[in-house]
Amino acid sequence: MRSEKGRSWCWIALALLYMEGVVVAEDPYRYFDWRITYGDIHPLGVRQQGILINGQFPGPDIYSVTNDNLIINVHNHLPHPFLLTWNGLQQRKNSFQDGVYGTTCPIPPGKNFTYTMQVKDQIGSFFYFPSLQFHKAAGGFGGIRILSRPKIPVPFPEPAGDFTILIGDWYKTDHKVLKTILDHGKKLPFPDGIQINGLGRDGAKFTVEPGKTYRLRICNVGLQNSLNFRIQGHKMKLVEVEGTHTIQTTLSSLDIHVGQSYSVLVTADQRAQDYYIAVSSRFTTQILNSTAILHYRNSKKTVSGPPPPGPTADISWSLNQARSIRTNLTASGPRPNPQGSYHYGQINVTRTIRLANHAGLVDKKQRYAVNGVSFIPADTPLKLADYYNIDGVFKVGSIQDKPTGRNIHLDTAVMGADYRAFVEIVFENRENIVQSWHLDGYSFFVVGMDVGIWSPASKNQYNLIDAVSRCTTQVYPRSWTAIYVPLDNVGMWNLRSQFWARQYLGHQFYLRVYTPVKSYRDEYPIPKNALHCGRA
Ligand SMILES: *[C@@H]1O[C@H](CO)[C@@H](O)[C@H](O)[C@H]1NC(C)=O
Ligand SMILES: *[C@@H]1O[C@H](CO)[C@@H](O)[C@H](O)[C@H]1NC(C)=O
Ligand SMILES: *[C@@H]1O[C@H](CO)[C@@H](O)[C@H](O)[C@H]1NC(C)=O
Ligand SMILES: *[C@@H]1O[C@H](CO)[C@@H](O)[C@H](O)[C@H]1NC(C)=O
Repeated sequence: MRSEKGRSWCWIALALLYMEGVVVAEDPYRYFDWRITYGDIHPLGVRQQGILINGQFPGPDIYSVTNDNLIINVHNHLPHPFLLTWNGLQQRKNSFQDGVYGTTCPIPPGKNFTYTMQVKDQIGSFFYFPSLQFHKAAGGFGGIRILSRPKIPVPFPEPAGDFTILIGDWYKTDHKVLKTILDHGKKLPFPDGIQINGLGRDGAKFTVEPGKTYRLRICNVGLQNSLNFRIQGHKMKLVEVEGTHTIQTTLSSLDIHVGQSYSVLVTADQRAQDYYIAVSSRFTTQILNSTAILHYRNSKKTVSGPPPPGPTADISWSLNQARSIRTNLTASGPRPNPQGSYHYGQINVTRTIRLANHAGLVDKKQRYAVNGVSFIPADTPLKLADYYNIDGVFKVGSIQDKPTGRNIHLDTAVMGADYRAFVEIVFENRENIVQSWHLDGYSFFVVGMDVGIWSPASKNQYNLIDAVSRCTTQVYPRSWTAIYVPLDNVGMWNLRSQFWARQYLGHQFYLRVYTPVKSYRDEYPIPKNALHCGRA
């Protein structure tokens, strides 16, 4: 059912687009044609069914430059519905392309859908992954890099090479079996190991020339565990976090929580031999670990000695590292206003939203919730229901702004927010594990994090000068994290746990950023090729 209203609005918007000449034709187009299939993979040495993109696991890297248009035609050859989502791409005015349940109809088996996305005013390192069912446990992920435009200075010399390193915890169990466990309301067992670019221990190898400096873009594409990343005998210089150039600090090891991305520079300034790249799980009783190889071109010796040990499991080490990550205010940013001149600390907060996560049982089944609501999908993607004014799919306000004392209940949780509001969101974690929260459609300022209970007095310790702007933030056990978000992107945006089983069992909701003015300036009309499903 498509309302006449929706249709005519779409027409007017298209006509206006045409008349005003705002079509983004001046920015380059990059075309991708992807076949999604099952195929054998062996990340931990055991054969399992993986999700391949054009026969590859992990999938191909997306190379792009700020403002490029990415036209990605995804052909689903799996026997079930499929969607890819683009972790960190802001999809400005264009939430229809976001590729999550609430915004985009699944691509049916044997069908295709072409995503049309512009990486407007963005730079940095991100990744894509399958968002439906429990496909993420089978692969289907890959790196995304957005380079600065040629005339924009980058705050470090051009590296001799640029490597994508996708790390993550991994199960030997088939993703369909994992999904069935969750569908039965049970928790998943602990993962079996760690994959690095789809390979097991000492499988991935990165070759460097002596004396040269390389950029490593490291993304945690795993399902739940925070990971620590380090290189035997080498220091790393942190330069970028999810689209922000950081103050360049030298690190021996780096914590990367699930769903996060970082760029570091590494100089091959040691003796010509091979070195371990070590990755291990954080804050877990049982420690998962794996290694890859940093290989000097003129290496005289294979890896030797023990892999470098990880840091102390003490939360404060990780918290201090997180707080030390700040924006380099003098470095160029990708925004229309240089990032440095964006004084987020002087803008008045118009609303504070406090979000507490919980775990609990509903009808004897494991669920996860935010402010008492455990998300369940409805029969129609929320964005389409909104666009076509289909009643009874969701209710704005079905999740509160504050933690509630009530028991967990199930609902298709949507929170309303005004376009151009400047909101503070406080993530309150009363559980004893690290959380990782992600907001689609946005980059937000991580203004504070600490152990204990948040109170308005906690604002006194906020960083209002050079907090890092990113799209995924961790919240330490029994701790809080506060972010500032300028709501400058109209749409239906998923706010979710990156801990995938939690997300699957309800730890997510949608933020509907709304303006009553229907204008192409604020939001693009539904794409012409949009798939329809449910009641849309
Ligand atoms: C499917 O792919 C064809 C080209 O192979 C393209 O013309 C068509 O627009 C695609 N369908 C969608 C829904 O994007
Ligand atoms: C910040 O960026 C500037 C400009 O590119 C650069 O010269 C400087 O070294 C950077 N400072 C730090 C501390 O990273
Ligand atoms: C890595 O894990 C293996 C077993 O999976 C264990 O034997 C080894 O001691 C661990 N190494 C480190 C550095 O934790
Ligand atoms: C923020 O609020 C204060 C006090 O209410 C007011 O004086 C100030 O002008 C406001 N600033 C902006 C940028 O609106």
